[in-house]
Amino acid sequence: MKSKILMIGACGQIGSELTLKLRRLFGEENVIASDISYSNLDVVNSGIFEIVDAQNYASIKVCVEKYKIDTIYLMAAILSATGEKYPMKAWDLNMESLFHVLNLARAKFIKKVFWPSSIAVFGATTPKEFTPQYTIMEPSTVYGITKQVGERWCEYYHKKYDVDVRSLRYPGIISWKTLPGGGTTDYAVEIYHKAITDGFYDCFLTEETELPMMFMDDAIKATIDIMTANKDAVKIRSSYNLAAISFTPKELAESIKKHIPGFKITYTPDYRQDIANSWPKSINDSYAREDWKWKHQFNIEDITKEMLLQLNKKYGASLNKSK
Ligand code: SER
Repeated sequence: MKSKILMIGACGQIGSELTLKLRRLFGEENVIASDISYSNLDVVNSGIFEIVDAQNYASIKVCVEKYKIDTIYLMAAILSATGEKYPMKAWDLNMESLFHVLNLARAKFIKKVFWPSSIAVFGATTPKEFTPQYTIMEPSTVYGITKQVGERWCEYYHKKYDVDVRSLRYPGIISWKTLPGGGTTDYAVEIYHKAITDGFYDCFLTEETELPMMFMDDAIKATIDIMTANKDAVKIRSSYNLAAISFTPKELAESIKKHIPGFKITYTPDYRQDIANSWPKSINDSYAREDWKWKHQFNIEDITKEMLLQLNKKYGASLNKSK
């Protein structure tokens, strides 16, 4: 029998692309998209879509029963920067939604769960270079705290109740289809948009702030790889370190200048600088590479080429539309 998937947070940066990819792989009728509002019409109009409130157990359960769902991807969350503005809101959404989904699995309404963690689980006392899987973790953002606590609960539900929950510590994700919202790594997406529309970008991090990053296609591949891996191969049930590349805003600007020579960048660090300073510069993801054979594909030059190509088409198309 084919798996029936529910995507919660399908209008967001990662949820939107995961939905489209899973539909291509498993059939449109087997992937139900859901979100709290109709905020991404490309997703809403691309197949079955339901309004689901991730903070309401009944709202999720009704949808699970209606479509005989066996797998949930819980992609709804408040990210690091927004979380600092609305700490209790971030805590409530990030934790309540996770408990609802884990409890649905514990009660055997569903069989499998994907829940993303983040490099935000690490903090200022964590070794910054090639950060190991097992190390000091003292996150200083509300978002990071919810992800670290969430990891502990995932492992607990797996050990105690045999819940098949799988998780990745995503780095900053770069994509062109849907904008990220409220993260500290968002600059690495905004920069491409501004390079095309304005030829100029004022970065909210300093030029030497190095962070772990990944192209969306790699993030989607990792997510599907871990979800389709043999149960026994997924040995870590808190969350796996996951890495592709690391770069600074200056290095990213240099790679854009190779294609747009007149591109200019300035740096005006704001409150997000402190968040970035508390995160690792690079990640050791050898467990993922060993346990379920993770391998990334895109380096910084590949990403810049693809981002500029796709965004040029996108903006070209919208300019033509407005004519
Ligand atoms: N991209 C996220 C953020 O910046 C990190 O997981 O908040």
